[in-house]
Amino acid sequence: MNNYSNFQKYLTDEIDAIQSAGLYKEERIITSPQSVKIRLQSGLEVLNFCANNYLGLAGHPGLIEAAGKAMQDRGYGMSSVRFICGTQDLHKELEKAIAGFFGTEDTILYAACFDANGGVFEPLLTEEDAIISDSLNHASIIDGVRLCKAVRYRYANANMEDLETQLQTAQAQRFRLIVTDGVFSMDGNVTPLDKIYALAQKYNALVMVDESHSAGVVGETGRGTTEQFNLRGQIEILTGTLGKAFGGAVGGFTTGKKEIIELLRQRSRPYLFSNSLPPSVVGAGIYTFQLLEKSNALQNKLHANAAYFTEKMLAAGFDVKPTQSAICAVMLYDAKLSQDMASQLLEEGIYVTGFYYPVVPKGQARIRVQLSAAHEKEHLDKCIQAFIKTGKELKVIA
Ligand SMILES: Cc1ncc(COP(=O)(O)O)c(C=O)c1O
Repeated sequence: MNNYSNFQKYLTDEIDAIQSAGLYKEERIITSPQSVKIRLQSGLEVLNFCANNYLGLAGHPGLIEAAGKAMQDRGYGMSSVRFICGTQDLHKELEKAIAGFFGTEDTILYAACFDANGGVFEPLLTEEDAIISDSLNHASIIDGVRLCKAVRYRYANANMEDLETQLQTAQAQRFRLIVTDGVFSMDGNVTPLDKIYALAQKYNALVMVDESHSAGVVGETGRGTTEQFNLRGQIEILTGTLGKAFGGAVGGFTTGKKEIIELLRQRSRPYLFSNSLPPSVVGAGIYTFQLLEKSNALQNKLHANAAYFTEKMLAAGFDVKPTQSAICAVMLYDAKLSQDMASQLLEEGIYVTGFYYPVVPKGQARIRVQLSAAHEKEHLDKCIQAFIKTGKELKVIA
């Protein structure tokens, strides 16, 4: 027995427990670039309906060229945090472009949105304050809240009555911050930001929205929830990722009121104590926002694709959650059925993921379909036909 053996046994027991609960996450190996058509290590070529590649930019030649050019011009890495010697003009340019896109005052970049959410609460709020968080908020918000001493309140997902009750109790604190995802990734529902904003006005609260799944997608031109609800420039804090609609590499940001961003630059730990984004990612990021400034073609195509897919699935008799995002939840309710159907769809050349408890509530198993501007009508039709075939075989539809 060495020092490690007891700990090793503990670890293998934990892993066994994860496996026997059916919760072990396997990784499917892809041997092609991220795209609509991907090749799996098994050799199977499939249509991809489970990436967050909402605008189809992950393999866009313009982004790849911009990333390469920035790397040639400015090097591979920064070898520094921002405030020591890690800020290039490109970082400032990207921060400005993001603020322009969202109609906000200033932006601060992070290595990921996980870091943006992890580093936003603790520098701004103290034990005198309150954070009121939607129960379905992303793990990174939950972790960020844990790092902050503010008093914590939780309201049921998108439930405005419950939010109002929490706001009433939170009057005991100095400042109140309501925090919500823009789009909840398992259902695809958009947060009711107009109602949240009205309650924030009534109860003197600040608002933060995580736009990770809504930026580039929601709103007439894809500017996110603040565009959808006519609240551009009114929400104090927005966070988001460069890892989904905006190219899919890495990178996160917080954008909003300039004093908030200024204080985060001074005190936000994932910003102060973690490396700067590399020039390639920043260069491609600048290109992305220039592209989206010039045209709304990608957002328009994504909206049309999501509407077409949902309409056809409903017509085929599937139980589909209403969506205003690029996420379409096909409800199956039964955990095993969700896995069987996803496996059969893969055999039909359609790559989707089935989710079940504890990722979604018990009895709410589903297949989540993620639409992209890169999908053509023929891809959507192939996916719908495969759903109809497997749906009939598994008696999901008549
Ligand atoms: C709502 C939400 N916030 C934050 C993140 C984290 O983003 P990143 O991959 O940039 O860390 C995700 C990614 O899954 C997300 O869905």
